[in-house]
Amino acid sequence: MTATLMDGKALAERIRGEVAAEARELGDLGLATVLVGDDPASEIYIRLKHKAAGEAGIRTRDVRLAASTTEDELFEEVEQLNRDEAIDGLLVQLPLPAHIDEARVIRAIDPMKDVDGLHPLNGGQLYLGEPAHVGATPVGIMALLEEYDVPLEGARAVVVGRSNIVGKPAALLLLLANATVTVCHSRTADLGAETREADVLVVAVGQAGVVGPGDVREGATVIDVGMNRADGALVGDVDPGVAEVAGLLTPVPGGVGPMTIAMLLRGTIRAARYRRGFLAFPGA
Ligand SMILES: NC(=O)c1ccc[n+]([C@@H]2O[C@H](COP(=O)([O-])OP(=O)(O)OC[C@H]3O[C@@H](n4cnc5c(N)ncnc54)[C@H](OP(=O)(O)O)[C@@H]3O)[C@@H](O)[C@H]2O)c1
Repeated sequence: MTATLMDGKALAERIRGEVAAEARELGDLGLATVLVGDDPASEIYIRLKHKAAGEAGIRTRDVRLAASTTEDELFEEVEQLNRDEAIDGLLVQLPLPAHIDEARVIRAIDPMKDVDGLHPLNGGQLYLGEPAHVGATPVGIMALLEEYDVPLEGARAVVVGRSNIVGKPAALLLLLANATVTVCHSRTADLGAETREADVLVVAVGQAGVVGPGDVREGATVIDVGMNRADGALVGDVDPGVAEVAGLLTPVPGGVGPMTIAMLLRGTIRAARYRRGFLAFPGA
């Protein structure tokens, strides 16, 4: 193997330590999650988020609603959490059951508490390069790139995937860091031709092996966001053979995953600072 593995676990632990110190300084702060239905993957994510928040001294509220919950009932729950002064950060775990309009629910979240950065105000602020809540995964990717001193200014960055939660915000953050950014998706005509141009390649697709060793430029930095189950094991989107070509590579597990949890906690601290008036957040 030639690539240096980017240790997201170690960086995440350090950040979680910093978050715990900030949480002590800020006093009582709260993160609420809302889970509708019983999707097993969502249950695991929620459990990890609560455990990490608890360890950092952030109080959590775990709202569980039945899969049959109506959109109005969910709105009412979100409204209550918006009004609740004890709650600084609020996220509604996606995906929601098919009968609920996700975009409408996200619009109902107080933008100041929207730690997933999915409210249109936050999405718009990010688009404009203004202060915003940005989702934990893209922020975690940027923190890893910074930790390993990966040059971004003028670099060619290719993001594979254009979801609102990972691909699009990651592309915007890379653009704000002055990279030259290409965004690829399921209709990209020749994915390999695009990815081979990348100095920095971010892969967020949800398909094991979608990027192979022949799709990566020698010495490139490769961030594997994918989390796929294969024969009971967790694997990324990037073929393991990429480690023979890349210069830096995030492992799965132990790369982006732990960073996502750490950055959610940091986002909760940020939300608490906004709400206490220590940080400016125009428009909210
Ligand atoms: N490590 C973490 O903390 C973390 C956090 C979030 C997500 N994830 C993982 O990251 C992966 C992506 O998550 P997501 O929520 O962004 O998924 P998503 O909403 O399903 O989006 C997947 C994206 O990949 C694109 N795509 C699908 N097949 C493709 C192909 N063959 N070639 C190129 N692009 C293709 C899709 O294109 P279209 O837009 O054209 O459909 C879409 O934009 C999943 O494995 C997820 O579990 C990990």
